[in-house]
Amino acid sequence: MTKICIIGYGKMGKMIEQLAPEKDCRVVSIIDPNCPDLHSEITKESLGAADVAIDFSHPSVVVSNLETLIKLGQTCVIGTTGWNNELPRLRDMALQRDMGMVYGANFSLGLNLFSRVLQSAVEIFDRFEEYDLLAWEKHHAQKADSPSGTAIELARLILEHSSRKSEVVYDKLERKPQAHELHFASIRGGQIPGTHALSFDSAADSIELIHTVRSRSTFAMGAIAAAGWICRQKRGV
Ligand SMILES: NC(=O)c1ccc[n+]([C@@H]2O[C@H](COP(=O)([O-])OP(=O)(O)OC[C@H]3O[C@@H](n4cnc5c(N)ncnc54)[C@H](OP(=O)(O)O)[C@@H]3O)[C@@H](O)[C@H]2O)c1
Repeated sequence: MTKICIIGYGKMGKMIEQLAPEKDCRVVSIIDPNCPDLHSEITKESLGAADVAIDFSHPSVVVSNLETLIKLGQTCVIGTTGWNNELPRLRDMALQRDMGMVYGANFSLGLNLFSRVLQSAVEIFDRFEEYDLLAWEKHHAQKADSPSGTAIELARLILEHSSRKSEVVYDKLERKPQAHELHFASIRGGQIPGTHALSFDSAADSIELIHTVRSRSTFAMGAIAAAGWICRQKRGV
């Protein structure tokens, strides 16, 4: 049985708490400074001798959470997005500590399969110049970061597999996009758990690949699976 500490008791933290028992995991501690009944700080004691900590908190706190986890040598899974700029530094810190850490912008199995399909599709359409490529994502109104971490990762894959797109533009464009630019738009509103789409567009037709999350359980199940995996004596990032 894997013992889990949840960091961040919001939509994702609650989903992990609910689903963990189905996957032979036990939640031994929950840390969230904004919930009076829970632990407010990450310490050796508040981690509750967990095998693994799972962080789904907030982009503004994840870096300091992770620094603390690394100092404590705590095996961890980081689902919180919006800290890409700090990744190289924190990865080095974790590697020096010889600990196990998994991070991911999207723990959904379906999205990970979708990204494989996307890579193949980009390569296929790359041979046909009549097709341009554009992408968009939409998320609920409470999402703190934009573009989504998944959009950043999908854009990276698209640039890697396309010979015609060499730069991604996320912001609004007050000009025509250039041919080498991939325009990746973000829309925020309502309750949408997460939708990512890629469109191959020509004068004659349009082909769209869309991944639509129906339930946050898809992220939670992936994060719990990652937690079980990294706990099996694995080290590294
Ligand atoms: N990788 C993936 O597969 C995946 C999937 C879904 C979401 N995410 C990401 O995961 C993060 C959380 O998403 P969510 O939908 O669960 O957000 P959420 O509902 O806002 O939950 C985040 C929780 O963390 C709390 N929090 C704030 N500061 C904290 C701290 N210092 N320590 C611990 N907890 C703290 C928040 O409290 P307050 O609300 O009071 O500030 C809130 O309860 C976001 O970055 C989101 O983009 C990733």
